[in-house]
Amino acid sequence: MAIRFEGNIFHLTTDHTLYQMGLDAFGVLYHLWYGEKTECSMCYLYHYPDVGFSGNPYEAGKLRTYSMDTLPLEYATEGNGDYRIPAAAVVNSDGSCALDLRYESYEIREGKYEIPGLPAVYADEAQAQTLEIHMRDAVSGLAVTLKYGVLEADDVITRSVVFENRGEQPIRLTRAHSMCLALPDGAWDWMHFHGRHTMERQMERRELFHGIQQIGSTRGTSSHQQNPAVILCERDCTETSGCCIGAALMYSGGFQAQIEVDQMEQVRMVLGIDPETFSWTLAQGECFYTPEVILSCSTQGLTKLSQQFHSVIRNHVCRGSYQLSARPVLINNWEATYFDFDEEKILSIAKQASELGIDLMVLDDGWFGKRDNDCSGLGDWTVNEQKLKGGLGALIEKVNALGMRFGLWFEPEMVSEDSDLYRAHPDWALRIPGRNPVRSRYQLVLDLSREDVRAYLYESISRLLRENHIEYVKWDMNRSICDWYSAFLPTERQSELPHRYILGLYELLERLTTEFPDVLFEGCSGGGGRFDAGMLYYCPQIWCSDDTDAHERTFIQYGTSFFYPVSTVGSHVSAVPNHQTGRITSLETRGTVAMAGSFGYELDLNLLSEEEKHTVSEQVKHYRQMQMLIHDGRYFRLSDPCKDEMAAWSFVSEDQSQVLVQGVIYRACPNTLRCRLRLRGLNAQAHYRIAGEKQVYSGSALMAGGILLPRAAGDDVSFELYLELVKKA
Ligand code: DGJ
Repeated sequence: MAIRFEGNIFHLTTDHTLYQMGLDAFGVLYHLWYGEKTECSMCYLYHYPDVGFSGNPYEAGKLRTYSMDTLPLEYATEGNGDYRIPAAAVVNSDGSCALDLRYESYEIREGKYEIPGLPAVYADEAQAQTLEIHMRDAVSGLAVTLKYGVLEADDVITRSVVFENRGEQPIRLTRAHSMCLALPDGAWDWMHFHGRHTMERQMERRELFHGIQQIGSTRGTSSHQQNPAVILCERDCTETSGCCIGAALMYSGGFQAQIEVDQMEQVRMVLGIDPETFSWTLAQGECFYTPEVILSCSTQGLTKLSQQFHSVIRNHVCRGSYQLSARPVLINNWEATYFDFDEEKILSIAKQASELGIDLMVLDDGWFGKRDNDCSGLGDWTVNEQKLKGGLGALIEKVNALGMRFGLWFEPEMVSEDSDLYRAHPDWALRIPGRNPVRSRYQLVLDLSREDVRAYLYESISRLLRENHIEYVKWDMNRSICDWYSAFLPTERQSELPHRYILGLYELLERLTTEFPDVLFEGCSGGGGRFDAGMLYYCPQIWCSDDTDAHERTFIQYGTSFFYPVSTVGSHVSAVPNHQTGRITSLETRGTVAMAGSFGYELDLNLLSEEEKHTVSEQVKHYRQMQMLIHDGRYFRLSDPCKDEMAAWSFVSEDQSQVLVQGVIYRACPNTLRCRLRLRGLNAQAHYRIAGEKQVYSGSALMAGGILLPRAAGDDVSFELYLELVKKA
């Protein structure tokens, strides 16, 4: 049994971890432990001195060691004498802000709970159990259910919260986080992933300090600037040892993660919807569901933690026909043409691509409405016949006749002021009455909380998918959101709009992905501005970054790898000098880096030399051979690109018989020994041969001594080694 309740203690066990909570005589629920599996009740770790100055609940009487302000509360709330960061806060109908949750009952069920209207980890009854703990504020009647999904074999615990107003008066939620977690001491680091457009998910690791540290997004998207995923790790935790806990929010809107080290040196972490752009009124009988957090813990370092996230996201988050199957190698015309193309140009790229073995031609921005630059056309999802004279159907037929599949770009959530849609429905855009809207990339955002807007988008996109042989959709979204005002919502509900927008987005995506299960949906938001587990529920891959420079990409893909599986990372070979950085890297290096993802090209192949074309066709063949090892194998980070002079990573098959080692040496160094790279995850007792070499190495030698890398002649030179188990004669 993954979940049991014994002696007022909840034990949630996975194969290697224990999550433990305890109940006291006052009905207060504490967090006791999340970490290595033990058989013990961990309450002995919490032993409080006289905390009279912190305030004591009334019913504790003279018990001055008992304070909400110091207890490791499982789900902390505002206004009950706990002055630390709360997970939930309310405004009651009398204007007071108190919320005091006490235990009522619990339920344990087989299988994994679902969340109405929101993406959630899915698992069958053999794979997961659900715990629901029912709490209630006796005065307001607000009932709060803490939900836990335990995926034993995956070492994963999911969390989500349901608020239900069982009182008679309305209650306004001003903060409704998805989780709260306590650690008994503050000697930990935290890691998060910051960035900007064209430089997403740069890993940063810092020691926790006293007080509150926080990341988040108020942009209406999970954002380029911060990713909604955080790691807490012991100070000496490395890739291979030490305890670390990861938390990834399955949500694509604004979010907040806060970590506080309190006066007792204890840690509290909360994670959920951004409270600055959120409040939600619950009328009598109404419910509010928070998004889900995926939690995982490793006591063997960061690589193991990442592998656990990769496995749960690939197997229990991503869906559809492409979830586990080979992805097509694609060619995208964006960096080849930008807006400047016609049918002939697209076909010339497609023809060359088909000759080189590429599977799918993706037509990017500019094929619709009056869209010759980024000032106009968004919202008018009808083909631009000036560019594509015979229409979309004719182009697709010609692409298909080349033996290639066809994919199309959309940016459904946006509208240009210079568009027929905006002229017909100006109130469909988010705008605050009497104020000029903030334009970004000259565009405004459609109000996806509105049913009529979603119906229009569903009709426009589904008609195109029904009437044309489109096998891939790139779902782009190119701005942060502000001007939060919906012509559709009453004044007192305007603050619900950012979350209603995301609910609308998910509803639309659910409808389309259900109706077109065989279409591969790739997410995108100015590159990787919405790279989160929420989007991955609908789109099994996401364009990782608009920065296609192979050197920069090694840093972006390194940061991305802490939570997200390689199969989710859209990654292309583009032209040199690189359009974002001007850097020149070899075609080999660009190929190696892009192959550590869902692979493709984004350049005019006609401009390549014959030798380069040959390299491309060899890369495509090679990727096809390696793709399942890359996507299904265990991923190992073998270097820290910020500290080492190289980026190196490997993929090891489940049975440890195949190993692909790839990387980029940043700087050539004269007159030195060859670089040594220690491998990981091999069978120590087995023997391996490197393809093309005669010598046999033991797994233990390759992990302890390492392999010798080829000498780099030049900067940013890639390497790749394929190792296979030597079969016993
Ligand atoms: C941003 C995307 O990240 C690019 O790949 C491209 O699709 C452009 N938008 C098109 O406007």
